[in-house]
This record gives sequence, structure tokens and C-alpha cells, in this order.
Amino acid sequence: MLVIKMGGSILKEGASAELVSDLKEIAKQHKIVLVHGGGVEVTEIASKLGKEQKFIMSPEGFRSRYTDKETIDIYTMVMAGKMNKQIVLALQSQGLRAVGLSGLDDAILQAERKTRLIVVDERGRKKVIDGGYTGKITQVNTELPNLLLEKGYVPIVTPIALSHDCEPLNVDGDRTAAILAGALKADILVLLTDVEGLMLKGERVPKIAATEVKEVLSKIGGGMSTKIHAGLEALNQGVKEVIVTSGTTKQPISSALNHQVGTVITSE
Ligand SMILES: Nc1ncnc2c1ncn2[C@@H]1O[C@H](COP(=O)(O)OP(=O)(O)OP(=O)(O)O)[C@@H](O)[C@H]1O
Ligand SMILES: [Mg+2]
Repeated sequence: MLVIKMGGSILKEGASAELVSDLKEIAKQHKIVLVHGGGVEVTEIASKLGKEQKFIMSPEGFRSRYTDKETIDIYTMVMAGKMNKQIVLALQSQGLRAVGLSGLDDAILQAERKTRLIVVDERGRKKVIDGGYTGKITQVNTELPNLLLEKGYVPIVTPIALSHDCEPLNVDGDRTAAILAGALKADILVLLTDVEGLMLKGERVPKIAATEVKEVLSKIGGGMSTKIHAGLEALNQGVKEVIVTSGTTKQPISSALNHQVGTVITSE
């Protein structure tokens, strides 16, 4: 069983034919659950709707979208609508039985709303702001994905979670994939992105143990550090292997599973 996250960075033109045909081969041997990103598309469409997006920085250095009511509506439209359905279509076009879902459906992803956020402004000053519609996943309901997997469907999950008050919450795609992988007892988590893997000093790191990650974390920037943290989270929850790799090469997933490309993160 594999959980594969397709980064928004590789979905500008939807899921590529090369990626989907590889997925089709993999699906003959493994159950697959897909999770997707799409933040750039959300920002672009929000801007066309006259809603410029604001980004905030946490004291730990994580950048995230400030998600107010209007933004969560746009986020839901673009992510669970355009992005999710584009992937469904790409998979259907190659004969895969794709089913698009969000974390809201059957409460697959349940989250606690972050009531307050600590942010750092441009001058380095800390401020407390309202959390908006962002959440931390607290529970996964695996029943529906498992039901679909048993019947041979490929679920495609949009990272939107259900709050205790039945509101949609924006949750991070990498972490969603990690938590889903743990809950579904996946063997491997694959994070597909627009770079070869974890890069240090300009070179790809082919393999790194969880225990070695701490030493290099300070050298890893934005999008990649979220993946490394998500990877550690997945390993902690029993996933055996995490692979961060490019989604734009030939046979991107097969070659990553064979350890020919990408960065493999393991427990020891
Ligand atoms: N040490 C590093 N090694 C590799 N990539 C790094 C490193 N530090 C920062 N990055 C950045 O991380 C990016 C990947 O994360 P990013 O969030 O942009 O993409 P994604 O997760 O695939 O897409 P999305 O967030 O839309 O789902 C790379 O394009 C690269 O610029
Ligand atoms: Mg990202």
C-alpha cells in the first residue's frame, strides 16, 4: 500500500501522462491513495477574483497562507474542484478508476481549528493573530478509503479537513499525506515534487536516516523542510520508508521505488 502526494508544483498542467502511466503500472501491484497540493493555483485564482492572498511566517520559519472565510471558500473551490478533478480526469483517461474526495467526505480528515497563530512580521516581531480556517489533523477516518481500495478504486484526497463545528479547514498537503499514510498503515509514502529530492550543497541526498535529519534541518528551505518533517511524522507512525522525489522524470514513481532517484528517508 502506497500513499503518494503530488505536489502542486508539478500539477500546473494537471497530472502528466508520463506520471499517470507509471501510476497505472504501480497500481497493478499496490493499492494507492493519492493526495495533492495546488497552492499556487489557489493564489492565482484568488487574485483573479480580487482576493490577494496573504502569507504568514511562523516563529519556526514555516510560511503559510492566511486563510480567512473568503479564502477557505476559494481554497475549497480550487483544490476540491479544479485541482482534484483534473487529476481524476487524467487517471480516468488511462483507465484507472479514480475517485476524487476531500477530507470533508465522510470526515476522512478531522482537525482542530487553530484558534490563534503566532506570526513573525517583516521586522522579526512576534504577533498573535486569529487562526482563521486552518487546522491540525487530530483524527483520520479510514473506512471510506479502505472500502474503495478493497474494490480497486484509486482515492484522490484533497487536503481539507473537517472541524468539530463542521467547517472546512486548510491543512498542509505533505502532512496530510504523512498522517493518512500512518492511519492507512501504508508501507511507503512518496512525496512527488519539482526537484530531484533533498538537495544539500547542490547535490541530491540519496538516503538519509531520521536520526541524521536534525543535523541538516537548518540548511533546508521552505517547501522541502515541510516534506522532511512530514516524512519523520510518517516514519513515527509506522510507515517503513519515505521517498521525496521529482514527479517530472521518466517513470517517476517506479524509479523512486527502486531507489534509482530521489531521497529515501528511513527510521534508522
Ligand atoms: N535543501 C533543499 N532541497 C530541495 N529543495 C529545497 C531545499 N530547500 C528548499 N527547497 C525548495 O522546496 C521546493 C519544493 O517544495 P514546494 O512546496 O515548493 O513544492 P510542492 O510541495 O511540490 O508543491 P505544493 O506545496 O504546491 O504541494 C523546491 O522547489 C525547492 O525550491
Ligand atoms: Mg509544498
